[in-house]
Amino acid sequence: MRPLSTDQIRQAYLDFFQKKGHAVIPGASLIPENDPTVLFTTAGMHPLVPYLMGEKHPAGKRLVDVQRCVRTGDIDEVGDSSHLTMFEMLGNWSLGDYFKEEAITMSFEFLTKVLEIPLNKLAVTCFEGDKDALKDTESAGYWIKCGIPEERIGFLPKAKNWWGPAGKTGPCGPDTEMFYWVGTSELPPKGSNPANDDPNWLEIWNDVFLQYNKKEDGTFETLKQQCVDTGMGLERVAKVLQGVESVYETDRMKSIMDVIHAGDMRHRRIICDHLKAATFMIMDGVAPSNVDQGYVLRRIIRRAIRSGKQLGIETAFTPGIAQVVIDQNSAAYPLLAKKSSAILETLKQEEAQFGKTLHEGLKRFTSVAETLTGKIIDGVSAFHLYDTYGFPLELTKELAAERGLTVDEKGFEKAFEEHQKLSRAGAAQKFAGGLADHSAETTKLHTATHLLNAGLRKVLGDHVWQKGSNVTADRLRFDFTHPDKMTPEQIKKVEDLVNEEIKKDLPMAYHLATVDGAKKEGAIGVFDDRYESQVKVYVVGDGSFSKEICGGPHVARTGMLGSFKIQKEESSSAGVRRIKAVVSGGPKEIDVAGEA
Ligand code: ALA
Repeated sequence: MRPLSTDQIRQAYLDFFQKKGHAVIPGASLIPENDPTVLFTTAGMHPLVPYLMGEKHPAGKRLVDVQRCVRTGDIDEVGDSSHLTMFEMLGNWSLGDYFKEEAITMSFEFLTKVLEIPLNKLAVTCFEGDKDALKDTESAGYWIKCGIPEERIGFLPKAKNWWGPAGKTGPCGPDTEMFYWVGTSELPPKGSNPANDDPNWLEIWNDVFLQYNKKEDGTFETLKQQCVDTGMGLERVAKVLQGVESVYETDRMKSIMDVIHAGDMRHRRIICDHLKAATFMIMDGVAPSNVDQGYVLRRIIRRAIRSGKQLGIETAFTPGIAQVVIDQNSAAYPLLAKKSSAILETLKQEEAQFGKTLHEGLKRFTSVAETLTGKIIDGVSAFHLYDTYGFPLELTKELAAERGLTVDEKGFEKAFEEHQKLSRAGAAQKFAGGLADHSAETTKLHTATHLLNAGLRKVLGDHVWQKGSNVTADRLRFDFTHPDKMTPEQIKKVEDLVNEEIKKDLPMAYHLATVDGAKKEGAIGVFDDRYESQVKVYVVGDGSFSKEICGGPHVARTGMLGSFKIQKEESSSAGVRRIKAVVSGGPKEIDVAGEA
């Protein structure tokens, strides 16, 4: 394997595809130009959607670029060894030009000839087929022709091997993904591939065969032209080639990490990742604010500042880190150098502003937390921390989680709404713009909670009622009425029922109803304390399995949950049991269930 630096990998990719007839185009801004449905550019194909849909691209039919991307759903995970707020995606495109065979052959050549990744450490997955598209044996055939052994080719359903659209509608299609063996054994075991669930396969590249346009109503139509869209994670490939344990130890990230040389690894990673992302966001014209992209920027800067405080850093430090990011990346991103004074000034001001209230706010938080009777911080207190001390809701949630507490987010939204005296719709829009940035993971778990609730009633009986529910990005917790400990058989039965509903990949949608109307149509849910005249009833498929009153959000299709597992069943209080469960293997980005 060639131990290339991050800059060298980027350049090698552009050079390789240029030689193969691709025009090198500049990456776009992190702020999508023509797509109000998302806050940030999330993939290389995102700015190219009009061309993938048939618009002529001025540079031709073969394109290659490096695209900076932000996926807000991953922000709360940052601090572990793999998640990043901003990452660079290397991508090549065919706009109605080459298709599967050439795309796969070029990917193989780049991986094995240019990067010199050994063939025996590679594996791929292809789409297993469903009602929308056939099993992709064609792609598998091309991989075999390249030399990938059959045992290293896995087939997976839509939840895994299908990509897009980037927003609610647009180009999408089956994909084939490439993986590198990161297990402790030198070589992968015989027969192992990413489809049989070995977590030691790291996805490094994705070739998407865009053949469909997903329409507003959720159906697919065939695109005018067949396109190829690929995406390779630069930081991940650097980790592989440089043989290091985490993306934070790759050359580019390491020099930022080294500035914050000591202390808790999680806080160092948060500072490194968040300030790098913040530097690029400001370069692309975002300013800290309380809405939309500005809110995400404020949130990550403030989280980094709080992490700095945890490490005992008392002086202003954010501009210094940004300077390192600028120095390192200006060759690849000349705009960074050009905007450097604006970047440093923005960070300096934001840090000064938050520095004034952080200390008092933390004191206030501690006093709220320590005088709590239950485990939930009320919405008004959370709003007060937001409004008076500048604590983003996510920061308060994180501080709460560190003490095993949660925050009443609905109550926060209500307090926010009352304060702003905004109309319901106006407030909802604002929340969609950042404040209630429901991550993909929490949305999936939220939907899993509905399926679990329904499954428990089917297996144990209609005496089962929800007593409480709590979802974080990692797991769901569900309390329900039932007198006895569940048997292993019952647990397995519930798990299987839920997984069956996931496998069916049923659509999920809601309709509005009165509380009485919802009860009459057989919806379950928490009926007490309902003050709204209208409620949302979320229905899975035809409603025979799950129909529940709830505020949402939920995933648009159950297949997005991947698979479901109950980790624990225990007593919560007299007559109330508690389940902890997780989902895994679903897509990183999800569509949210809309109105039926
Ligand atoms: N658009 C594809 C992805 O993001 C390549 O994985």
